[in-house]
Amino acid sequence: MSKKTLADLGDLKGKKVLIRVDFNVPLDKKTGAVKNDRRIRGALPTIRKLLDSGAAVIAMSHLGRPEKATPEERKNLALDKVAARFGELLGRPVKKAADEVVGPAVTAVVREMKPGEVVLLENLRFDPREQKNDPGFAAAIAALGDAYVNDAFGTCHNDKDASMVAVPAALKAAGKPRAVGLLVARELEVIEELMGHPKRPLLGIMGGAKVSDKIAFIQVLLSKVDHLLIGGKMTYTFLKAQGVDIGSTRVADEELVAAAPLLQYVGTKITLPVDSLAAKSDDLDATQVFEGPIPTGYEGVDIGPKTLALYAEKIRHSGTVIWNGPVGWFEKPAFSAGTKGIAVAMAGCNAVTVVGGGETAEAVEQFGYDTKMTHVSTGGGAFLAYVEGKPFQSLAQIDDN
Ligand code: 3PG
Repeated sequence: MSKKTLADLGDLKGKKVLIRVDFNVPLDKKTGAVKNDRRIRGALPTIRKLLDSGAAVIAMSHLGRPEKATPEERKNLALDKVAARFGELLGRPVKKAADEVVGPAVTAVVREMKPGEVVLLENLRFDPREQKNDPGFAAAIAALGDAYVNDAFGTCHNDKDASMVAVPAALKAAGKPRAVGLLVARELEVIEELMGHPKRPLLGIMGGAKVSDKIAFIQVLLSKVDHLLIGGKMTYTFLKAQGVDIGSTRVADEELVAAAPLLQYVGTKITLPVDSLAAKSDDLDATQVFEGPIPTGYEGVDIGPKTLALYAEKIRHSGTVIWNGPVGWFEKPAFSAGTKGIAVAMAGCNAVTVVGGGETAEAVEQFGYDTKMTHVSTGGGAFLAYVEGKPFQSLAQIDDN
């Protein structure tokens, strides 16, 4: 990781630092309450460091997709509740600057800020210019701060978000310093090490529903890992493509097309589950484990116990494990044994263990094993894209050391 970091920002005493964080957190659909604050906690070390060095902090984030939300849903996307949770976790008051993202009210609040104070701008996506890399919008944000920090790993792959690209560009034009925060630095370091110099054997575990969503990622993984274990709904795509009966499990035709180029690795580099927990389509409480074909009327919902034992054994003999995607429908306790079992095996092994963000991170945290992993990423799409080696415009804005 060769990017400029906090230490390269110079003396921050009395300065105002703009920090892009990814507080795009899951919300309770009805109340709008923050359901999981992992991403907020992830940015705290950087924010504390900035405050300790005498700066005032102007934090900014998007939340959800307001452009697609109903007016009712949009109300829950205002950042008041996130600001409150952020303040609780930080242990000092955090107020939202104003109900607008930029404008005279925000400028007035920021002008009055003292060292050690924190404000949060309103949901950046409430302003449609955010997702268009709009230079005027970026200039208005950039004018608020003396320095810029990108600590929003989960959003680093978004090339059109002004706060990620046009804002740091505007700061550069004004001769102001930019750096990555501690969270982004750690995420980059872990993934670079993982893809560049992993402790071998390197084991990949892939789950989730769709092969088509992750095909580029799987192909890159295959070129790096010594072995790849498959779980989750994508298992049934592979099985169906091999002509195995998968009962009433639904697999779209385009999934079969996506999986076709990977079939050549099945049995060598790729291992598929040897058994499945399946539930009756008309009565999900009626479950049965099947080795081989699944009868009509049943659908696969989790890996079976033999598969879990086999996968746990592979994990035990690995030097590094990278896991992305739950191996079953873990949100339902009756179908969570496989995903929990993988988490347990990873938590108890001696390997370097890296968990991709999104649902996998949620699962690991739900089962209480997040602190037992070497690294749990805060990035969903960003984690996949960085592993794939995609260049990020946001990071290109941060100068190399
Ligand atoms: C994420 O959750 O992956 C990031 O916050 C990016 O959000 P987006 O997919 O809405 O751009």
